[in-house]
Amino acid sequence: MSRVVELKHPLVRHHMAMLRDKNTPTYIFRDQIRRLTLLLAYEATATLPVEPIEIETPLCKTTCKHVETRMGLVPILRAGLGMCDAVQDLIPQAEIWHLGFYRDESTLEPVEYYQKFSDHPPEIAFILDPMLATGGSACEAIAMVKKWGVNKISMLCTIASPEGIEKVQDVHPDVTIFTCAIDECLNENAYIVPGLGDAGDRIFNTL
Ligand code: PRP
Ligand code: URA
Repeated sequence: MSRVVELKHPLVRHHMAMLRDKNTPTYIFRDQIRRLTLLLAYEATATLPVEPIEIETPLCKTTCKHVETRMGLVPILRAGLGMCDAVQDLIPQAEIWHLGFYRDESTLEPVEYYQKFSDHPPEIAFILDPMLATGGSACEAIAMVKKWGVNKISMLCTIASPEGIEKVQDVHPDVTIFTCAIDECLNENAYIVPGLGDAGDRIFNTL
């Protein structure tokens, strides 16, 4: 079974409160997604392998460590774009590969509308999507990234439902999920409760 890491840091809880608040305007919502993603990315990269590198400080030569692994960020459009800059700030050498899905609100099935992958998959992929609801979009995205040839995949989501986590764990037991909060359940429209509403609409001011 895959690992689920729920961040318990006080600052995560603090920023989640502002993120969830329905009165939080778009410009602050985007900032909150960004702050929370930085904390998620910090946790999700904690076990990256490091290699020695010789450098010279103004005083002497010394051996330091650096990360050589080729990493790909895979934001799921649209809402995943809101997380991308924060991870890129932390990992400026990462490649960005976009995947477009929207959830058909009548069937709740993910519908793919964009894919941009190369012939050279990265060694590690971080899939970015603020919401893991039914888990349909995440499972499809993970399947596509695996088919591309990536063996090490982590899923970064701001909020996860227990139902979504269970689905990803069933279908992709090798993928670790990092989340700021595991919420209570899905409602009758498969929205996460208490959740934050529609992440894409709140990020892009299209409510
Ligand atoms: C949201 C969210 C996920 C998906 C989660 O996207 O960003 O991609 O729903 O739902 P699931 O786990 O049940 O598949 P949405 O379809 O609203 O598209 P958007 O990001 O373009 O707004
Ligand atoms: N997509 C969202 O944006 N929010 C939810 O609660 C579920 C799916």
